[in-house]
Parts: sequence; structure tokens; C-alpha cells
Amino acid sequence: MLTIALPKGRLGDKVYSLLDQAGLGIPEMEDYGRKLVIENEEAGIRYLLVKPSDVAVYVEKGGADLGVCGKDILEESGADVFEMVDLGFGKCSMCVAAPQTYVEDYDRKVRVATKFEHIARSYYASIGRDADFIHLNGSIELAPVVGLSDVIVDIVETGTTLRENHLKVITKFMNISARLIVNKASYRFNDGRIDQIVRAIKETIA
Ligand code: PRP
Repeated sequence: MLTIALPKGRLGDKVYSLLDQAGLGIPEMEDYGRKLVIENEEAGIRYLLVKPSDVAVYVEKGGADLGVCGKDILEESGADVFEMVDLGFGKCSMCVAAPQTYVEDYDRKVRVATKFEHIARSYYASIGRDADFIHLNGSIELAPVVGLSDVIVDIVETGTTLRENHLKVITKFMNISARLIVNKASYRFNDGRIDQIVRAIKETIA
């Protein structure tokens, strides 16, 4: 049986609907309550319902053979997995944003609040800008509003959260969408079933 890690929440709904269309669906998904493991015996697939930010870890460490997660999660985790398919949904951008009135002072370090510390560090290193990082777990937009940071590095989807908190995009530096990822050892040693699943998903999104 193959194990697939699926993200709970926003992205999850789109993933379940894709799997359904690809003939790999989860029967009566809504009836499973708080269950975290769901089997589709007919398809020979076991689904794990995990926090989106944990999908890449499950796949890298072999807790799951395949998984679906955003490119943001994949980059942030640095997970050593195969990235097989860009699913084309869950689109957003990784951005630097700041209060509407913000003016950058290049004579001092910029204070950056983010939950994507690895991505933020890489970005600032790539542009050669000194920065201090403040790691937060959510509601990142609040940090510059209360003076905790100068800017944020966060994902922007509709832009509503930025607008409603009087922030603006300074730079957009990464395009994000959902990716199908595969454990490297599983891919080498499975009997072609992973390729079948990848093909079914590719055909469905095409
Ligand atoms: C994400 C992200 C932004 C928001 C962007 O937060 O961190 O806050 O969505 O979406 P928008 O551009 O459509 O407004 P999430 O909803 O994951 O919650 P969080 O603040 O707890 O991280």
C-alpha cells in the first residue's frame, strides 16, 4: 500500500478534489471526523492528514511515499525529495511587505518578521542586505504595525491581509503553487505505482 501525506485546511480541499477526479479519491471524506489515517483499499492507498507545514517532513523521512504541499513549505523545509508535478493551484507569491509609509534605510540592518525564516535568510543573503530575523508563527502582518519589525516576508494570495493592515508589497521574489513530492527511496524501489499515480494526476490537471 502506498502512503500519501495530504495537507489539512485551505489547500487540502483542492487536493481532495484533484485526487477524486484522478480516480484516487477518498470515499466520504467528510465522514472521517478526527481520523488522521484513511485507507482507500481499492486504490491501494493510505492517506495521512497532516498539518501543511509537516507534509515535506513526512515525505522526506519516509512516513509517506508521496505528498502534496506548497512550494513555500518545500523551500522552507529544505526537504530532500523529488518534486514531480506543479499542480497549478494554491497560487500565491512570497513577498517582502512593509507599512505604506515605509522608507528603507540602507545604513542599518532591516528587521524582518516571518514564519519562513530559511526562505527570508536566503533572500536577504542573495541581495547582500544585512538583516535580523524575528520568527513568528502566524499573523505576521501585525509585526510591522506594532513596530516589532520593519518589514515582513510572507505569502500574499489575494492581498487582502496586507490591504486591511495598511501594508504594501515591496518585492515579490518567489512564485508559489502546490507541488506533488515523492520520497526518493520510495521512488527508486516501488514497482512503478508511483509513476502511475503521477501520470493519473498529470492527465487530470492537463
Ligand atoms: C496567510 C499568510 C497571510 C495571508 C495571505 O496566512 O501568512 O497572512 O494568508 O493571504 P491574502 O493575501 O489572501 O490575504 P494564513 O491564513 O495561513 O494564517 P496565519 O496568519 O496564521 O499564518
